[in-house]
Amino acid sequence: ANSDDEKMIEAHELLKKFYHHLLVNTKEGQEALDYLTGRGFDKETIDQFEIGYSLDSWDFAAKFLTKRGYSPEMMERAGLLVKKNNSDSYLDRFRNRVMFPILDHTGRTIAFSGRVLGKEQPKFLNSPETPIFNKSKVLYNFHQARVHIRKNQQAVLFEGFADVISAVRSNVPNAIATMGTSLTDAQAKIIKRNAGDVIICYDSDSAGLEATLRASRTLAAAGCKMRVAALPHGTDPDDYIRTHGAEKFRQDVIGASITLMAFKMQMFRKGKNLHDEGQRLQYIEDIVRELSLLDNPVEIELYLKQLSEEFSLSMDVLKSRVLDQKGSRQ
Ligand code: CTP
Ligand code: MN
Ligand code: MN
Ligand code: MN
Ligand code: MN
Repeated sequence: ANSDDEKMIEAHELLKKFYHHLLVNTKEGQEALDYLTGRGFDKETIDQFEIGYSLDSWDFAAKFLTKRGYSPEMMERAGLLVKKNNSDSYLDRFRNRVMFPILDHTGRTIAFSGRVLGKEQPKFLNSPETPIFNKSKVLYNFHQARVHIRKNQQAVLFEGFADVISAVRSNVPNAIATMGTSLTDAQAKIIKRNAGDVIICYDSDSAGLEATLRASRTLAAAGCKMRVAALPHGTDPDDYIRTHGAEKFRQDVIGASITLMAFKMQMFRKGKNLHDEGQRLQYIEDIVRELSLLDNPVEIELYLKQLSEEFSLSMDVLKSRVLDQKGSRQ
């Protein structure tokens, strides 16, 4: 890394410590601290994830950084300040937000995400792409989770900050997140280098379910095996843990994760009336098409057997449909 990069990282480290101080020790941070406490974040959690608060000010960070010798131009390139239109002055990017520091795999602070305390938009404001922050290569909490991912040979993949934090606090230390965007090839490769197995635990809304299918394709391409941890509809992992507790999350969500194929079968089934012949046929065809993409004959046989029993169809007919589909793609 060059010396500009070093300086930008240094500035992030300093600001991170100050944001944290503002949150836990000052009157200005009290509302943000109350917000977090109200959501169930305890002091230990706030310390472990170095959560902070950015003041409701236009130029607090600008002054803080300038005073310590960091040029505003460089701090703008680092994503911490923004240049005011048609003027030479620089303003803070993050104001009046709960600050989540984002660390690289070696534990250096390279970006922030700031969450509003209320309902304003955008809910999260993130650092832009900078010389030190390439969003497509970073996974939230990878730095702390890595050793556990290696030890368990398994990663648990979430959407967001609160999900990871609640999971870690629930004794699921191999938790990482994509921070909302779809999982990239680069992120999937990073996971694969550390573990072959991934449990996808995204939000249980339509966006999360779609994202689960997309992530599973990306992970499969990187050579990972995955399972899906399903939540009650409309909840996310953090909600679930707050409502049902850590123990139930580990047992009934993580421990009850299902194979990707079983997850797809649930998705195909959704909204269909299987008493209707046409919809039943469609469901069976959906599954046959999906099975024809699998290589493992035992796996194929297993699901065909389920289908054959559920709908009283002969295994021979089902098998030949799968083989037809396989053949027609070659
Ligand atoms: N995200 C983002 N920008 C947004 C919305 C979401 O970067 N405008 C990212 C954040 O990393 C967020 C994740 O996507 O944690 C998941 O989004 P969402 O489910 O909407 O937020 P939650 O993490 O559930 O946030 P909270 O529980 O604090 O409402
Ligand atoms: Mn502390
Ligand atoms: Mn979501
Ligand atoms: Mn969510
Ligand atoms: Mn949430």
